[in-house]
Amino acid sequence: MTFTPPEIEALDKELSTKQPKEIIKHALSQFDNIAISFSGAEDVVLIDLALKAKKDIRVFSLDTGRLHPETYVFIDQVRKHYGIEIELISPMHTELEPFVKEKGLFSFYEDGHNECCAVRKINPLKRKVKTLDAWITGQRKDQSPGTRTSIPTFQLDAFEGQNGDLYKFNPLANWSSEDVWNYIKMFDVPYNPLHAQGYISIGCQPCTRPVLPNQHEREGRWWWENDGGKECGLHASNIISKT
Ligand code: ADX
Ligand code: SF4
Repeated sequence: MTFTPPEIEALDKELSTKQPKEIIKHALSQFDNIAISFSGAEDVVLIDLALKAKKDIRVFSLDTGRLHPETYVFIDQVRKHYGIEIELISPMHTELEPFVKEKGLFSFYEDGHNECCAVRKINPLKRKVKTLDAWITGQRKDQSPGTRTSIPTFQLDAFEGQNGDLYKFNPLANWSSEDVWNYIKMFDVPYNPLHAQGYISIGCQPCTRPVLPNQHEREGRWWWENDGGKECGLHASNIISKT
């Protein structure tokens, strides 16, 4: 299925007025070959919402090898709680091993996160989405004043899908963090215990730390870096649209 730019714009406009549940329902009925990308954080609401629309959903997580122990436990808890498969996508050993051999395990503190994120997150993501027509993410506008304020609900992604164009749904784009947490509490959705320890945004363990009161959630990610908009490149269109 392909969409012209005006069709993408029209569908995004239409979906932007709808609630996440309806957006996910639409996405799952429009695309058969579609999967949810689950980071192991509060985007668990995507899974809860999707299962209300369809029984056989597909979910994948990028296992960078550097997630918090709590996140691994949580991913497995979610798998059992919902009775779903969660496909864990690993980095390619042919890329990871030479990288670690040459630069060690903490090179990101010295020369930035881009190289490690490419090996552990972006390339594995590209490999996964190359088998899909569309994917669903938990990105929200309120997650980053620098890069996410204009996240659409539906967009053409920067990466390639199975047949060329890859489409991306961001059903939570217009929800605030408060909306997400109200949903989690209201529907007894399981959540990552790190959220109760001051972590708002959760990525890899060496690159995420809790934030202080009144700090923005993104300040806990790659905190030793000041530029680059605090994006790892999974959502390349956020970075492209900035430049
Ligand atoms: S990131 O680009 O900074 O790492 P962020 O943590 O804000 O992303 O998460 C936004 C969305 O990106 C998540 O809701 C999820 O859809 C996707 N995502 C991020 N990290 C992962 C991961 N490790 N595995 C699968 N999806 C992920
Ligand atoms: Fe590597 Fe940190 Fe990026 Fe994870 S977030 S892939 S550990 S640089």
